[in-house]
Amino acid sequence: MNRDLNGIERDVILTGFMGTGKTTIGKEMAGELERTFLDTDDLIEELTGKTIPQIFADEGEESFRQKELEAIKGLSRYSPGELVLSTGGGVVLRKENVKMLRNRGVIVLLTASVEEILHRVKGSDRPLLQQDNLRERIQELLSSREPIYREVSDFVVPTDGKTPWQVMEEIYAGVREIKPSG
Ligand code: S3P
Repeated sequence: MNRDLNGIERDVILTGFMGTGKTTIGKEMAGELERTFLDTDDLIEELTGKTIPQIFADEGEESFRQKELEAIKGLSRYSPGELVLSTGGGVVLRKENVKMLRNRGVIVLLTASVEEILHRVKGSDRPLLQQDNLRERIQELLSSREPIYREVSDFVVPTDGKTPWQVMEEIYAGVREIKPSG
């Protein structure tokens, strides 16, 4: 696998819907690249001492979004290029977040089919997915977010039927390709 990104001093930022593999891929990739792995949800949990479901239950979504913004602001203590960052599925819905992330790195969109997402998130405690008709809920959220995900990302990697290593390989290739305009 050609994973040579050493000359590219930008973070690799993984975005996309819940269950598209951002955290799994991000951790693996950070290990390979010897970069620091961060996940915005983990940062928020560390910052608040609460779990994501607790924050939603006690304070509501808006307060969670504010904490997401704070977590992203806090990334400024890392040099751009130091991180592989996995972002919560709603991070890119705020323009301010996108602006900060763009300044640090390459924004990669991971996608998966509704079937695959359904399979991966079934039984999870994600607050936005606590509904009886999970398929419908995913479809609804996905269709409202899809245009935004596509607009803010530098390139897209579909993940259905691929191993994490195949996905990583595509990400490395994509990052290398956009370097000149980068
Ligand atoms: C959310 C995605 C979650 C988490 C929160 C809200 C969203 O992260 O940030 O439950 O709005 O899509 P993952 O995408 O890592 O599951």
